[in-house]
Formats: sequence, structure tokens, C-alpha cells
Amino acid sequence: MHNPPDESAIRRRAADAGQDHVFRFWADLSGYGRRRLLEQLAEIDFRQLGRLIERHVRHPEPENLPADLQPAPFIPLPTTDAQRRERCHMRGRGDRLIAAGKVAAFTVAGGQGTRLGYNGPKGAFRVGPVSERPLFQVFAEGILAVRRASGAAIPWYVMTSETNDQATRDFFAEHDYFGLPRGDVLFFRQGMMPAVDFKGRLILSAPDSLARSPDGHGGSLLALARRGMLADMADRGIEHISYWQVDNPLVPPLDPVFLGYHADAGSDMSSKMARKRDPFEKLGNFCLSGDRLHVIEYSDMPDDLAEQTDGEGRLRFEAGSIAIHILARRFVERLTAGGEFALPFHRAEKKIPYVDEAGETVTPDEPNGVKFEMFVFDALPLAENPVVLEIDRAREFSPVKNAQGEDSPATARRDMVRLAADRLEAAGVAVPRDNTGEPTVQVEISPLAARTGEELKRVCADRGLTEIAGDTYIGPA
Ligand code: UTP
Repeated sequence: MHNPPDESAIRRRAADAGQDHVFRFWADLSGYGRRRLLEQLAEIDFRQLGRLIERHVRHPEPENLPADLQPAPFIPLPTTDAQRRERCHMRGRGDRLIAAGKVAAFTVAGGQGTRLGYNGPKGAFRVGPVSERPLFQVFAEGILAVRRASGAAIPWYVMTSETNDQATRDFFAEHDYFGLPRGDVLFFRQGMMPAVDFKGRLILSAPDSLARSPDGHGGSLLALARRGMLADMADRGIEHISYWQVDNPLVPPLDPVFLGYHADAGSDMSSKMARKRDPFEKLGNFCLSGDRLHVIEYSDMPDDLAEQTDGEGRLRFEAGSIAIHILARRFVERLTAGGEFALPFHRAEKKIPYVDEAGETVTPDEPNGVKFEMFVFDALPLAENPVVLEIDRAREFSPVKNAQGEDSPATARRDMVRLAADRLEAAGVAVPRDNTGEPTVQVEISPLAARTGEELKRVCADRGLTEIAGDTYIGPA
């Protein structure tokens, strides 16, 4: 049971912060409505909010870019035998960490998914091109396959937010946790931040409710600490946290090669990268400032830097962030210990529905306010020995962001099919293709049927599959 919020103390704090307009419908609110508003206000750190309003709303300045940005070094995809042997060695190291039960899976799924416009948690979106498996199932199967291969219990932490927490938990329960032990799937909510208008005033989304939104994927690190998840990890002997976003169906949930490099370097936080397709591709840029690693958002990257090329015409800043990281548990503990959380907030101008003086909800056509968000990659400059590892994006990255066009369900399914087709051909199975090389049928492989190339060969042989004739899902037996 929560204690009822202390109305007079909250009113005083709101008034001191110049925010008491949020009580303007008070006389008309029910007991429930009053309590809701007070609870939301009680969660606000008005000192911090005041500072954010000063910095980002009253006196906004462009993001402060370090003046000395250089391209960040990265470990390239192997082209030589020595590099292949090295990856092999790292794979062994990562496999041993997984088998020793030192690695947790972590999905951030607290976002609002406004661009996709799907009605429900994004992880419930049915992305499988043949199977129609939802994103959460795709990840669960990846984890389950690694559990079976390694014999290790791999806890999976799923970060939700107030808006999708219950729906996410219900979805997992309805699907019996996709075969994972119930006790090894842990849900927790991230923090929420209030939005303000361009004068720095809190916005009401309803007479009894503030306009609030999740505090960004960077809030995940704070939430891991506040919700007791770091302590849970410590109890389980977890040392490394494999982080990914809910929108990428190609992600390998636990990549032993990546883990091996991360552990070998004694890294606090490591990142995967893909080479950008063009200077303005919408990926963050891995850069160095001094000896610190940064990700500079595409929108903050000056055009002349983005377009710089080396003597051979290659982009200098070619390393794009694909939002896959490994974090050392101790690093997250350090960032979140005591005092103020280390990551900064960024401002985002948004169209924020609000109530007018008559209490009616208005959805604006133009941005009318500012949301505050933290980004997980802002932890990189604080990390010692960070590793950036190049991956083949065709195998690992195809996010579902938009309803249509680039980075949409259509492109993610296309990339899932392309990858499955390549894997099948490598296993000796013929896949029909058109004259541009695109598969003409839909194919999809569950990691529960075959995780490795060898397994796929065996499964295809067992199932008598030598060519693909129509849409085919190679699912668990
Ligand atoms: P995006 O930045 O793509 O945002 O999140 P989004 O909320 O999913 O989608 P839009 O912008 O509203 O269309 C990237 C990843 O970070 C997670 C998302 O769930 C997604 O996995 N995320 C984002 C959070 O967990 N919390 C947040 O506050 C923001």
C-alpha cells in the first residue's frame, strides 16, 4: 500500500517551481483524479526539471560538439586468416562466459513506437515473414537456443514503461514466456519525464494528468539500478549485460565473439557498428574526442564532417552505431551509484496533446513542447577500454522503425528472408531467386531449429530439404 501523497507539500513544491497552473481543474477532479495528479507530481524532481528548463527551453543552445572529433577506431570484419583466427579465439572466450552463467540478456522495450503506429507493445509486433512470430518470440527463441547449447541459465531483463508494462507482461504470460522459465524473464519499468511547453510550463494531457513520456533508452541504466535489477544480476553472478533494442529482429541476443572481445579488452561498454551506406544515413557516428569514445547523433553531425573522405574516397566517419552494446554490470553500478545519475538529458521538440481551458484534448499539428530523453550511448565517454566491433549488417541489423519505406516491417522481413536464403544456400539447399538475386519465396529459420550452419545442414538433411519450392518456415521440430 502506498501512503496517500502529501497534497500541501506537493502544491508548495509545484508553486515554488512556478508550475501551479497544473491544479487549474482541481475543483472538478474526482478523488481518483486528484490522487493521480498528485502522484505524478510527487515523482518529479523539480530542481532537476528547473535546470533542464533553463538549459533546454529558456536558453536552448545547439548540442555542444567536441571540437576535436576524430573517427573512432574499430575492429573490422575479418579479411585475413589471422583476423579469422582471432575472432575464433574470441568466440571461445565468449562461449565460456555464457556457459559460466555470467551473461544476461537485456532488451529495452519502453519506447512509444509512434512511427510504427502499432497498437500494442512493439515487441508484440508480428515480424516473422512466414511464421508471423512476434519480435519478443524471435528474441526468446534466440535466448532459448543459446541456453540449450550452453546449458546455462540466461536471465532476460525486459525494460518496459508505464504505458506498455502491463500489456508486455500479459503478452508474455499469454505465450507462456515462449518456453523460457518464468523466473528467468524479468520485467521492470523505466522512469517517466514530464513534457513542458516552449515557456517551460508543465503540460496537462488531461485535467488530472501530466503529459509524460519514458525518459529515453539511457534511462535504462538508472532503472536497472532503481528497480533492483543490478542487485538481481549480482545475486545471479552476472558480469556482462548484452543490450539490444526491441525493434531489431536480426540481432543475435548473445554473441560470443562480441562478448569475447569485450571481456578480453576489460571493456566497461562495447558497441557493434556497421559501415554507413552514405554520409547522411540515420545512424549515430562513432567518434573519438581525446581518448574518449562518443556517438554523435546523425542530426548533430556537421555535414562537412559527415562527408569527409580519405585519400581513397572512403568516408572518414564511416562507423555507424546500430544500438547493440555490452555493458559490464560493475560499470552500470558505478554510473548509478549515489548522487546524480551520470547521463545528460537531450531535448526533443514534439507534438504533445494537451487540454485546453475547456478541458478538451487538443492534438497539435506542429510541435508545441519539449520532451526530455537520455541516450544509452552517452555512457560511452565514461567507459574505460570501450570496444567497437564491426558486424555484417545483413546478418545482424534491420530495425522496424517506420510503418512504411526504409526501416519498416517490409524491409525487416525482406532482410530476414535474404539472410535465411543465404544460410540455406550455404547449407546446400537451392533457393529460387529472380534476376536481381532476390529470393522469390519467403523463407525463415528459427534458431530453435538451427542456430549454426552445421545444424542447418543436418536439419535440412533430416527433413529431406534440398530445394525450396514455396514459402517455408524452418521451425522447431
Ligand atoms: P526509438 O528511439 O526508435 O524510439 O527507440 P521508439 O519509442 O521505439 O519509437 P518512436 O521514436 O516513438 O517511433 C529505440 C529503442 O529504445 C527503446 C525503444 O523501445 C526501442 O527499443 N526505448 C526508447 C526505450 O526503451 N525507452 C525510451 O524511453 C525510448
